[in-house]
Amino acid sequence: MFLLQTSISIFQDSTTYYSDICVGSIACRLEKKEDGAIRVYIMTLGVLAPYRGLGIGTKLLNHVIDLSSKENIGEIYLHVQTNNEDAINLYKKFGFEITETIKNYYVRITPPDCYVVTKYIRQPQSEK
Ligand SMILES: CC(C)(COP(=O)(O)OP(=O)(O)OC[C@H]1O[C@@H](n2cnc3c(N)ncnc32)[C@H](O)[C@@H]1OP(=O)(O)O)[C@@H](O)C(=O)NCCC(=O)NCCS
Repeated sequence: MFLLQTSISIFQDSTTYYSDICVGSIACRLEKKEDGAIRVYIMTLGVLAPYRGLGIGTKLLNHVIDLSSKENIGEIYLHVQTNNEDAINLYKKFGFEITETIKNYYVRITPPDCYVVTKYIRQPQSEK
């Protein structure tokens, strides 16, 4: 199994104060499907609460989509809690579709249901 991790740090204006904080991260793994094709599973994506809505999640997701595209990977997917509107909006903005709903996926959080959201990346060689 291969693990890909990337993070973004924000450096604040040194005239007020200076800090180097990791404010967001995304972690993915590569999975082999039954037909041999490789897909990316996003295990975690998170941005510290005070830094949300600033485009960091977008940047992290873009990074993974770009890398996947460069590696000719045609599918990225993840699980998201059904009430997580911020995250669902973000994924929809990137062309992810709800491909499955799983009841009682989570054990310790409510609601326990999740969506599987999937983005299919069209590969250049399949274009006519
Ligand atoms: C989901 C998350 C990673 C988004 O990160 P972010 O840095 O705030 O995202 P961005 O600033 O790039 O915003 C991207 C899109 O997310 C959605 N979004 C972000 N904040 C939102 C909010 N407060 N309300 C509604 N939609 C929101 C919007 O669609 C936004 O696109 P827009 O700016 O064009 O409207 C962040 O909210 C987070 O860490 N949440 C908690 C952890 C989590 O739920 N992770 C996902 C698990 S599947």
